[in-house]
Amino acid sequence: MKERVIVFGGDGFCGWPTALHLSESGYEVIIVDNLSRRKIDIELDANSLTPIKSIYKRIETWKQLTGNEIHYYNIDISVHYRRLLEVIEKHKPKAVVHFAEQRSAPYSMKSPYLKRYTIDNNTNATHNICCAIVESQLDVHLIHLGTTGYYGYSSVGLTIPEGYLNVKVDVDGDEKYLEIAYPPNPGSIYHLTKCMDPLIFSYYNKNDLMKITDLHQGIVYGTQTEETRMHEDLINRFDYCGDYGTVLNRFLMQSQVNHPITVHGTGGQTRAFIHIQDTVRCVKMALQNPPKRGNKVKILNQTSECRNILELAKIIRDITGGEIRFYRNPRNEDPDNELKFDNTGFKSLGWDPIMLDQSLMTEIIEITNKYKHRCDMSKIICTSVWNDHIQVDKTGSGEPIK
Ligand SMILES: NC(=O)c1ccc[n+]([C@@H]2O[C@H](COP(=O)([O-])OP(=O)(O)OC[C@H]3O[C@@H](n4cnc5c(N)ncnc54)[C@H](O)[C@@H]3O)[C@@H](O)[C@H]2O)c1
Repeated sequence: MKERVIVFGGDGFCGWPTALHLSESGYEVIIVDNLSRRKIDIELDANSLTPIKSIYKRIETWKQLTGNEIHYYNIDISVHYRRLLEVIEKHKPKAVVHFAEQRSAPYSMKSPYLKRYTIDNNTNATHNICCAIVESQLDVHLIHLGTTGYYGYSSVGLTIPEGYLNVKVDVDGDEKYLEIAYPPNPGSIYHLTKCMDPLIFSYYNKNDLMKITDLHQGIVYGTQTEETRMHEDLINRFDYCGDYGTVLNRFLMQSQVNHPITVHGTGGQTRAFIHIQDTVRCVKMALQNPPKRGNKVKILNQTSECRNILELAKIIRDITGGEIRFYRNPRNEDPDNELKFDNTGFKSLGWDPIMLDQSLMTEIIEITNKYKHRCDMSKIICTSVWNDHIQVDKTGSGEPIK
């Protein structure tokens, strides 16, 4: 009998290709998603650059192509606890993968209503999954998608470890060594929720011996994976708007529609990146290598490389001939930072990451150039600001803005 995996948030940018990859790899996949991300598209009047099909059409085409059935439930897991529990009890999964959170930092900062929505949605979704696993009395491995933003973006100089830090403390004059969770340092309400999730995990791991893997994932770029490429109906979403588009995908798209590449501030920020194909590979590796019951929460840095934002903009400009413009940073963050991550966890399992320079051209030809006619230019600039002192900058400047 096939092992079963529930993918919470399996209609989203990371969840859909993961669901297909696990299905293709021989798992029986159950998707639970309340389609909130599609509803936010309607609310923001911004669509995926790629023409994504409904979840029903996606699943139907997948079955026609492969014979593999994917079950689907439309449940808001932050609210409908009983229905969530019933799905876990019915399917008795070996593991669940939790992508079902509101994942945009700018969207989480747009209004008090959306701050509260993001906190309620994300923390309740995470807690409900943990609570339901315990109530089901099943031994389920929970894999969660966290973010490298958990660690914050101030330059501390050290290579950021995989979740835990060894510290030396003074106890009445004696030196003692402790292993502590790396101090969280949230930079937005969204990131705050991603810093609260690990506390929930720590509690359920300690109290109920829950098997948990928390993947601190870098910014995902790219669109297609081996499975989503199999048919146009399976195409993955590509967000480019100021709220949901992630930096590298936005730059790639801007270069194709003759919009200046929108660098915020000085472009001195350094961030961690991973290709979507590697997201799905890493999640499968995490699934195949669960912690033992009683082990502490396993934290892996799911990121292939760190890059400076201005350097990235220049790489894309040099490939495409676009123009770079600097816009006042809508975020309240350090203008520049250094960043280094330990990612030996996945590498020791045999992961050979896709590097950025290898994959940019495919992305331009396969996606941004092909679908550029679907772009709404009015949605490109970021209009969500972190506090009242920051003005939206729609014009930008030729020079870095300090
Ligand atoms: N995309 C990235 O660059 C990135 C980077 C690091 C971490 N992550 C994490 O990966 C996860 C998935 O991100 P994504 O880019 O696929 O986001 P996404 O918004 O495309 O997908 C999230 C999915 O979860 C669903 N969902 C949200 N709340 C739900 C709820 N209460 N009940 C049921 N379904 C719900 C949405 O409808 C959506 O389909 C998030 O937790 C995010 O924090 C993403």
